[in-house]
Amino acid sequence: MSIYDKLKSYGENPKKPYHMPGHKFGNGFSFLKDPLKYDITEIDGFDNLQNPEGILKESEDLLSKTFKTKKSFFLINGSSSGIASAILTVVSQGEKIICARNAHKSLYTGLIFSGAVPYYVYPKTIPGLNIQGGITPENIKEAIEKCPDAKAVFIVSPTYEGFTSDIEKIAQIVHNHNKILIVDEAHGAHFGFSKYFPKSANSQGADIVIQSLHKTLPSMTQTAVIHINSDRVDPAALKSNINMMQSTSPSYILMSSIDNCRKIIDEKGEELFFKYYENLKKLRQNCLKLKNISLEYKDFLGCYGIYDFDIGKILIYSKNKNVPGDFIKEFLNKKYNIELEMCGLKHALAMTSICNNDFSDLEKAFFELDILLNDFENIKETDLKQEYNIKPKIYSSPRDAHFSKKTLCNLKDSLNKISGGFVTPYPPGIPLLCPGEVITEEILSLIYKFLDTKIEVIGIKDNLISVLEN
Ligand SMILES: Cc1ncc(COP(=O)(O)O)c(C=O)c1O
Repeated sequence: MSIYDKLKSYGENPKKPYHMPGHKFGNGFSFLKDPLKYDITEIDGFDNLQNPEGILKESEDLLSKTFKTKKSFFLINGSSSGIASAILTVVSQGEKIICARNAHKSLYTGLIFSGAVPYYVYPKTIPGLNIQGGITPENIKEAIEKCPDAKAVFIVSPTYEGFTSDIEKIAQIVHNHNKILIVDEAHGAHFGFSKYFPKSANSQGADIVIQSLHKTLPSMTQTAVIHINSDRVDPAALKSNINMMQSTSPSYILMSSIDNCRKIIDEKGEELFFKYYENLKKLRQNCLKLKNISLEYKDFLGCYGIYDFDIGKILIYSKNKNVPGDFIKEFLNKKYNIELEMCGLKHALAMTSICNNDFSDLEKAFFELDILLNDFENIKETDLKQEYNIKPKIYSSPRDAHFSKKTLCNLKDSLNKISGGFVTPYPPGIPLLCPGEVITEEILSLIYKFLDTKIEVIGIKDNLISVLEN
């Protein structure tokens, strides 16, 4: 079946959406009803995103006002395009940048395009769950001491699972050393509009912040925004890099979706976020009665670099049993018609937004799963106990490796060879291996572990991996 037929039939009978995009099939608001009627290009009066001077400039100015930034730009190629543009703006060939190694692969696009050299900082892993936490101010302080000539610092906050780092303190340290702080807030576009959710990096001193509206707000897939909050970044330079990373035919429907999202926040944000918070609170309180399943996050606060948590991210895991994430995801899908966002080795994740009306369907499913798990050991044996932390051995910069000669190698023969590409479990899209990194025994065993699950591993096909030629 081709994509059109498949999508059309899915749209007629979709599963309950606990995944991106945040508009949840347009639940609770109206948007352009028949998209083809509005699918225009830069006709008279409609401005040009490559050089906005009319309605698009006005819309970006309104966006900046709502998000309380110095300058904001529309992105129609997702946060991916914004992250790569931000990297290209602050570092160039051979220059160093301190980067969190739990970054999305778009960081590496920026590194390959710019030729900059990463100095990695590593988030701690939450024991038992294999989920990465935050980056501490101490991590950044130490990295700056070890890599004083780095021009900028790049971190991800919140993580896919909703954990934030202490951006305010990190920003102070970064600025004391005269460097630029870029925060990938792709999963936190809804931050800063309600006291029940974490503060946005925009208000905590980050110089550049990138947010995917489509992930957690009522906006269409691919829509994202990039903000500047200080004089350390030249808006014209950033804009010129954004222009290189985006289509010159941006969809007016996507751009209108960004504007409509901003309008919803302006007009009804407070009320919608409060209702959303109340529903989440109810779900979380009721689920405290579960025996085998947990949605709890409070034990993690203040540990593993974790500063705060987004309660809209529903992390589902077991505290007392060895339950694989794909088991949870599949159970909810098959039995309750619930489509989750993703699963990891030992957890699954429901993504919610102000467009979810209530969570009674999730709650009911969790209670049934909880009963089923009483006998879990008898149902499925697993071996997911081994913890992991990705600390690559680096042979060359991502750019040098990217432009080197490569060959395909069987995984079983790849030990100690240099990776020619990315190996990325998806989701969450954090590479286990990047171009130029050594394929160590530890990484190999991790790759095998992921291949053993139902999580898609991009970069390995028929057990073959790209490596640099000798
Ligand atoms: C942490 C993080 N940053 C950036 C991105 C890229 O965002 P987008 O899909 O809007 O391009 C993702 C995508 O999943 C992500 O998880």
